[in-house]
Amino acid sequence: MQHPVRIAPSILSADFANLGQEVRAMTAAGADYIHVDVMDGHFVPNITIGPSVIAALRPHSALPFDVHLMITPVDPFIAEFAAAGADTITIHPDAGYHVHRSIQHIKALGKRAGLAINPGTPLNVVDHLLDDIDLLLVMSVNPGFGGQDFIPTALDKLAALRQRIDASGRAIDLEVDGGINDATAPQVIAAGADILAAGSACFRGGPSAYADNIQRLRGTPAVARSSASGG
Ligand code: DX5
Ligand code: ZN
Repeated sequence: MQHPVRIAPSILSADFANLGQEVRAMTAAGADYIHVDVMDGHFVPNITIGPSVIAALRPHSALPFDVHLMITPVDPFIAEFAAAGADTITIHPDAGYHVHRSIQHIKALGKRAGLAINPGTPLNVVDHLLDDIDLLLVMSVNPGFGGQDFIPTALDKLAALRQRIDASGRAIDLEVDGGINDATAPQVIAAGADILAAGSACFRGGPSAYADNIQRLRGTPAVARSSASGG
């Protein structure tokens, strides 16, 4: 079942000199998750942040941290990211030899386990993992940088995975990441995504724009949402 749309701002597009403040501002603006992109300059051609930054940010928000690991090897670092305050840990099957083992490791640490699917990675990678994972992340850009153009083949992947998730009867989140903006958000939601990770579209315009940016991506006016939730 497709859940209400949730927005996961990627702090890759935040002001890195003021990360704590940026996370507080996004939290106050109505984000549902904080999406943290971890890159190693090896699995992807960019280097970002590690567990110590996540631990430093943890007191700045009560929102779940959606930690997207683009690193290889990944296994030696999973426990450290869990201890740093990750709530969901998403890994790329292409980044390790034993993805089933990595998923079990994440779950054994009491965290939600996600599997990320690159634009060139076929969907059958999920065949024997659907019973174990909590989240599927469809990459709609090749991972490594913010601000890239949406790759439209992600829409077919989302639709196919939406069917598979619904057939499984499991409450697996279907997240999409890369090139999400006001034009592509309605398309990915129609295709079945229920979590939208977005960097540039969330952080554009600075803190005074964050609430509007989130609302536009979500596609539901703030008034309707607060009355629907009884608040
Ligand atoms: C890309 C990252 C994304 C990135 C998205 O490798 O995984 O989360 O921050 O940035 P935008 O939304 O700007 O495409
Ligand atoms: Zn990401």
